[in-house]
Amino acid sequence: MKQYVLITGTGREMALGFNFVRRYLEQGDHVFACVRKPSEALEKLRQAYPETLTILEMDIGSTASVNAAACKAAEIAPCLDLLINNAVTTSPDTNKELEDFDLDTICPAFNVATVGALRVIKAFLPMLRRSSRTALIVNISSEAGSIGACYRTTYIDYGMSKAALNMATKTLHNSFKDDPKLNILCVHPGWMRTNEGNARAPLDPYAHAETMRLLFEARREDKTGPVFITYEGEAYPW
Ligand SMILES: NC(=O)c1ccc[n+]([C@@H]2O[C@H](COP(=O)([O-])OP(=O)(O)OC[C@H]3O[C@@H](n4cnc5c(N)ncnc54)[C@H](OP(=O)(O)O)[C@@H]3O)[C@@H](O)[C@H]2O)c1
Repeated sequence: MKQYVLITGTGREMALGFNFVRRYLEQGDHVFACVRKPSEALEKLRQAYPETLTILEMDIGSTASVNAAACKAAEIAPCLDLLINNAVTTSPDTNKELEDFDLDTICPAFNVATVGALRVIKAFLPMLRRSSRTALIVNISSEAGSIGACYRTTYIDYGMSKAALNMATKTLHNSFKDDPKLNILCVHPGWMRTNEGNARAPLDPYAHAETMRLLFEARREDKTGPVFITYEGEAYPW
């Protein structure tokens, strides 16, 4: 069944968001690919999918920008069936220990990585509620957001922002408990070759986007399974 899908953070060709866009377009879905600045890679992709790819400019750090994007999307599509909160950012000092971390740079990262996802959910909730199916929200998290499995001494902002995103996911999961029209999950996607620094990672983002697309469809209506899951659908420690 053709669906309307919105994905954030989609402008980089090697990264996960762009490869989700490719996979859903290949299914015949209508994709809202969100970016904060124009992307050559997406413009090229639009030539292949002029009817089903809509590129939306949306800075998830700005409520005004997210609300404006939601208004535009509502003019184009009747509803949303799937929302993937994929965009992320970190502080410039993310790989430093606390002693060397400039904490005045931490709030802007949270404003995007955690609050940004909530902004997008809030703005697009009316469109999600109009889905004829159970609309699914997926927050792309990380093992770095697991308190139970935490082993790092750095990436403190990244881990905190993903742990907070997980808490937001669980809170909304509670809210949606008795609503058959809405479901939400957070997913640790695994280590992927999404940039040159990740060249040793085991997972190819294009192949992996399909693994996760199938997982999301399998879990769309399931509210009794684990909420924080791995890309294999297994429960991950909160
Ligand atoms: N890569 C991995 O191995 C791995 C492992 C675990 C979890 N994850 C998670 O998986 C997701 C995708 O990872 P990735 O490595 O593909 O990410 P990425 O390459 O860092 O891409 C992040 C995207 O977010 C966008 N973004 C940043 N700030 C934004 C803002 N204010 N408004 C809108 N978009 C914004 C960036 O846009 P610009 O292009 O404009 O900068 C970029 O396209 C992330 O949530 C990440 O935490 C990844």
